[in-house]
Amino acid sequence: MREPFVIAVDGPAASGKGTIASRLAAAYDVPMLDSGLLYRAVGVLLLHRGGDLDDVAAATQVARDLTAEMLTDPAFRTREAGEAASRVAVHTPVREALREMQQAFARRPGGAVIDGRDIGTVIAPEAPAKLYVTASPQIRAERRFKQLVAQGEPVTYEDILADILKRDARDGGRADSPMRQADDAVLLDTSEMTIEQATDAARRIVEAARARWERS
Ligand code: DC
Repeated sequence: MREPFVIAVDGPAASGKGTIASRLAAAYDVPMLDSGLLYRAVGVLLLHRGGDLDDVAAATQVARDLTAEMLTDPAFRTREAGEAASRVAVHTPVREALREMQQAFARRPGGAVIDGRDIGTVIAPEAPAKLYVTASPQIRAERRFKQLVAQGEPVTYEDILADILKRDARDGGRADSPMRQADDAVLLDTSEMTIEQATDAARRIVEAARARWERS
């Protein structure tokens, strides 16, 4: 039996991976999981309960109690939520607690698109299609800045660039960091691309992977 056609879309904050992942999901008519949302939910729910982001046991409990129905709150999309997510994501027991929900999604028989940091390496290492989407920190900061302004957040470009650099260091700064390109992932640098060009490039990469998968 062939494994489900899972498309793993990894990469740093604001690289465009979320947009690319949702367009791929629409193109292939498969469900999508934004795994960053799980970490965002854990961080925000922990803060709402008066918890401390460095409290591993408390963060792990929130992660264990998390269900898919709890993921719709727009509060998870804010700048603070991204920061809180990145802080709880460094705790290994939190990552372990969130693993099963993600792997269950990857086992869906009809296939899926999952975006995150460690989908191609840890969550779905057998995924037939893997992309690692990146862009320069300045370009990513510009994109995230515009997105947050459109959401009505009072932010400056400089603050967002500082956030991005701090997040890169936290998400990818250690030997055991989740943010790492899988050996068999295709690198897609979107710095010089419009979102349409990036989506087209992603489609071509996935088409090639799909042709290989169909022959397997
Ligand atoms: O993709 P995002 O900005 O929504 O992710 C928020 C944070 O969650 C990110 O800084 C690191 C963490 N994260 C992770 O560690 N592993 C994932 N698969 C997804 C997100």
